[in-house]
Amino acid sequence: MTSIQSTTTAPSDISAGEASSRSGFSSRMGFVMAAAGSAVGLGNIWGFPTQAAQNGGAAFLLVYLIMVVVLAYPMLVAELTIGRLAKKNPIAALSSLSEKPLWRKSGILAGIAGITTLSLILSFYAIIAGWLIAFMIEPLARMAGMPEVADWLINFSTARNMTMMAVFILLTTYIVKNGVSNGIEAWSKKLMPMLFILLIALAGYIVTLPGAEVGLKMYLVPDFSRILEPSLLVSAMGQAFFSLSIGTCAIMAYGSYLSEKENLPKTAGIVATLDTSVAVLAGLLILPAMTVAQANGVAIYGNDGTLLSSDTLVFTVLPALFNNMGSIGSIVAVAFFALMTIAALTSSISMLEAPVNTACEYLDQPRPKMALVTGSIIALISAIIILNFGELFGFVITLTTVYAQPILAMAFGLLLTWVLHRDRLLKELKKGHPELEQGLFWKIWPWYVKFICPVMMLMVFI
Ligand code: PFF
Repeated sequence: MTSIQSTTTAPSDISAGEASSRSGFSSRMGFVMAAAGSAVGLGNIWGFPTQAAQNGGAAFLLVYLIMVVVLAYPMLVAELTIGRLAKKNPIAALSSLSEKPLWRKSGILAGIAGITTLSLILSFYAIIAGWLIAFMIEPLARMAGMPEVADWLINFSTARNMTMMAVFILLTTYIVKNGVSNGIEAWSKKLMPMLFILLIALAGYIVTLPGAEVGLKMYLVPDFSRILEPSLLVSAMGQAFFSLSIGTCAIMAYGSYLSEKENLPKTAGIVATLDTSVAVLAGLLILPAMTVAQANGVAIYGNDGTLLSSDTLVFTVLPALFNNMGSIGSIVAVAFFALMTIAALTSSISMLEAPVNTACEYLDQPRPKMALVTGSIIALISAIIILNFGELFGFVITLTTVYAQPILAMAFGLLLTWVLHRDRLLKELKKGHPELEQGLFWKIWPWYVKFICPVMMLMVFI
């Protein structure tokens, strides 16, 4: 076993050796689909619409869009740049930004923290994704005349949670085991178009139903009195970071496979735009669906008048709506939960890739073996969370998404702009974009990430 320190390469030979033998994405389209697949997930289809509904509708949408442009996008470029610069796993990449021992150690620490955060996110994500698979199969089990199986699938139990979590982790491991172009890229190219079609078809159908206009209004008419509420700002920032998968090393690992022909700011812009479009579109599905359910007599507000919590909305309110729809309800239910499962899968493969890639490079072991080992470790962590659900589930989510992600994103941005020599940063960004130096991006972005982003994030936190 090689130590972390000894396998990292000095900055001068970053682009040589091992880097050239790594296989990567075979096309820009493949990369964009995979990175957008990482970004588009439960955060967009479930998190964003319910947060918008709870935080003043379009007011949240507006603050969210601002957060994406002013904070998340600059950080996304930073993470992609670190990955592509080093063409190594995230820990090695972060430690190779400088030759100074202190900075190398800081890079290693930041990388370990990123991989740990990512593994914890995947552990809770897999539990939720397992529920989605269960809810997708349930109508089929009922149609096949297996009501006991159907009931088992939708009732909360340790056995159900364990089984479905394991199914989801196995699916994720299977895709990651096949490598970047044959596994991640090939599957992202299949799954992402399916996701877009399902989302548009479902939203198109739901908005025609009675009661949908109330949800549309709730989503699209802003309640500006809430726009400066601290909780709204923190929620919008956390949502933007979670949605763009930043502060976790996932995008950094994908960046390490990106061709030098690609223009980094532009590619990041495409990914951020796709991700935001899906979130906005998902709002047009989820919020009208909730008020259609309400029009059908299903409660969407709790006793205190506030919207029910997001998990109740997806796993109780929407299934109740589908049940009320008659025979088409089962098909809509399967399509809806298939949509959610696909979104979760394209995100989870990006989460597993970074630790698998790190394990392969440091331990010098084959990918299939490391995919299996890493997948099993994540499943074990998920199992611990399931067995201590009340104490751990919410805690792990808050710890990773509210605190770790923004802090780590800031640390990666600071390492890139303060530690890496400015000439090397420019050289990397000029690959795929030779005229970068003359443009507005280069005049603003480096000092913006260096000074403004950390200050803004601190302000939001305080
Ligand atoms: N961006 C994903 C979503 O919106 O659901 C979640 C995610 C993926 C978070 C990858 C972090 C990550 F590294």
